Amino acid sequence: MASASRATPDKLPAWQALKQHADELKGVHLKTLFGSESSRWTHFTRHEAGLTLDLSKQRWDDDTLEHLLALAHDAGVPSAIDALLSGKRVNVSENRPALHTALRLPADATLNVEGEDIVAGVQESLAQMERLVCRLHAGQWRGATGKPIRHVVNLGVGGSDLGPLMVTHALADYRPDNIHPVEVHFASTMDGSQLADYLGRLNPETTLFVLSSKSFTTIDTLSNANTARDWLLGRLTQHSDFVSAPPVSAELIVRQHFIGVSASPEKMSEWGIAPDHQLKFWEWVGGRYSLWGTIGLPIALVVGMTHFRALLAGAHAMDRHFSEAPMEDNLPVLLALAGIWNVNFLDIRAHSILPYDGRLEYFAAYLEQLEMESNGKSVTRQGQAVNYSTCPVLWGQLGPNAQHAFYQLLHQGTQSVVCDFIAPLKRYDEVEDPDTRRHLKAQHRLALANCFAQSRVLMLGDDALEDDGPRPEHKRYRGNQPSTTVLLDKLTPTTLGALIALYEHKVFVQAVIWDINPFDQWGVELGKQIATDTQGIIDGQGDITRMDASSRGLIEAFWAAEQDG
Ligand code: F6P
Repeated sequence: MASASRATPDKLPAWQALKQHADELKGVHLKTLFGSESSRWTHFTRHEAGLTLDLSKQRWDDDTLEHLLALAHDAGVPSAIDALLSGKRVNVSENRPALHTALRLPADATLNVEGEDIVAGVQESLAQMERLVCRLHAGQWRGATGKPIRHVVNLGVGGSDLGPLMVTHALADYRPDNIHPVEVHFASTMDGSQLADYLGRLNPETTLFVLSSKSFTTIDTLSNANTARDWLLGRLTQHSDFVSAPPVSAELIVRQHFIGVSASPEKMSEWGIAPDHQLKFWEWVGGRYSLWGTIGLPIALVVGMTHFRALLAGAHAMDRHFSEAPMEDNLPVLLALAGIWNVNFLDIRAHSILPYDGRLEYFAAYLEQLEMESNGKSVTRQGQAVNYSTCPVLWGQLGPNAQHAFYQLLHQGTQSVVCDFIAPLKRYDEVEDPDTRRHLKAQHRLALANCFAQSRVLMLGDDALEDDGPRPEHKRYRGNQPSTTVLLDKLTPTTLGALIALYEHKVFVQAVIWDINPFDQWGVELGKQIATDTQGIIDGQGDITRMDASSRGLIEAFWAAEQDG
C-alpha cells in the first residue's frame, strides 16, 4: 500500500492527464470506439487461470489505458501487491496483515511473516477441518442420542455466511457420491426466519450447527445460536415419543451438536463449544476474505476436501498471476482500472453484476460485501477525507432474471451503469441422458446468446438493430453503457477460485489507487451499537425521550401493537 508521504491520487500527474483525456473522450460513443476496428476484442481481452476477461466494451481506448497504467504505477500498485502477498501490515487501522492469500498457498510453500513461517499453521487448520469433514462424511459423527448427523446448519452472517453460501451453490454439482449424506443449510438473519424454518422441519437428533463468527460477538449469529441451543436442549433432554434414547446431559448435547469457527477460541469456549470441536483462524484473515480457510467448512462438507483444495488452487493460480504479470497484462489490475475510469473520470457510479449461470445465484450478494464493505470508504489511510469518489453502488442478480427486472433501466433509464456479465463457455457435457443433455445444452446456448446480446445492445443502442427505420422515442435505445464480460472455460472449483480471487485483487488495487484501507469496516460498528441502545429502549430499559420523533413514533407503534396482543 502507498507510503504515508504519497500524494492523494487526485494530485498525481496521471490523474490530471486522465481528467483531460476524459474531457476529450467522454463525448465519444462506445459504438464509435468500436467503429470498424476489428482488433478491439484481441486488444482488450486477456486470458488466465481458465478465465477470459473481455474489457473491449469499456468506454476507453489505448491512450486511456496508458494513462491508467501510469496512474497505477504512480500510486505504487506493484509494491502494494508485494506488500499484500508478503504479509506486511496493510490493514493500517487494525495494524495487521491481510493474508487471505496465505490460506491457499500450496503445502510446500513457505511464507515468513514477522519471523514465523505461517504455512504450517494454515496446513494444520486445513487438516483439522479435513478430519471433521471425514467424520461427518463417514457417518461417524453421532448426535447426543447416538444417531449420525444428516443436516448441518451454518449460523453466520456477512463473511461468515456469504462466501460459503455462494460457493456451495456454485459447486453443488461437485458433491461426492460415495459419502454418508449430509445436507448443508445456512441461517444468517437475526430475525430468525431462516432458522425457524429449519427448526420446524429438521430432526434435532441428527442436526449439527456450525457457529461461524470471526469475532464471536455478532448478535445476529449469537441470537440464532442461542435459539438453536435451546431448541436442542428442549427436544433432546425431555422424554418424548420423539426421542427413543434415554435422557442425555446438556453438556453432551452442546458438545455433539455444535462446531465453532472463530478467531476467538476463548469466546467459543465461554459459549460452550468443546475445544476439539473448535476450528480457529487468524486475525489477519478479514471476514469477507475468509472462505478459503475454516470458515469454508460448509463448502468442504458439500464438495469434499479434494474439490475444496481445487478451489484453493484456482485462487492461488490467480494470486501467482497477480504477483507476476506486468500490469498491462494483469487481469485484476485491468479490471480495477476499468472501474477507476468509470467511477472517477466518466462519473459512472452504479455497477451491476449479472451472472448468466444459475449456479452463481449468490455471486452478486457475495461481491456486494466484498466490494462495498472493503471500498465503501471516504477517508484515506492517512485519515484525510477524500475529495473523489470511491466504491460505486454495486448490486446484481442472475442476468436472465434481471432481464425481467431492471434491464429496462439499463437500456432506457437516465442512469449510466457499468455491467459485469459472467458466463461459462462449456456446460452440461456430463449429463448422461442424451435427450436431456441436448435440451440443456440448447438452454446453455440460449443463455449465452442473451448474455452476449445484452452487452451488445447496451453498447450499440439502436445501431444493434438491423432495420434502423423511424421509431418513436420510447422505442429508441441510447446505448453507450459500458460492460465487462468474464467467461469461464467451465465452472469448476478451480475456475471459481480464480474468479473470486480476481475480484478480491481488483478491490485491493482500487483501494491502493484511492489510498483507502479495504480491510477494515468501522462504518458498520455504529449501527450495531445504536441497535443495542434501541433494543434496550424497546425492552423498556432506556429513556425514549432521548430519541428523535421518528424513532419514538416507531417504537410506540410497536408497543401499541404489542398491547393489542
Ligand atoms: O458486517 C460487519 C462484519 O464484521 C463483517 O465484516 C463480517 O463478515 C460480519 O460482520 C460477521 O462478523 P463475524 O464473522 O465476526 O460474526
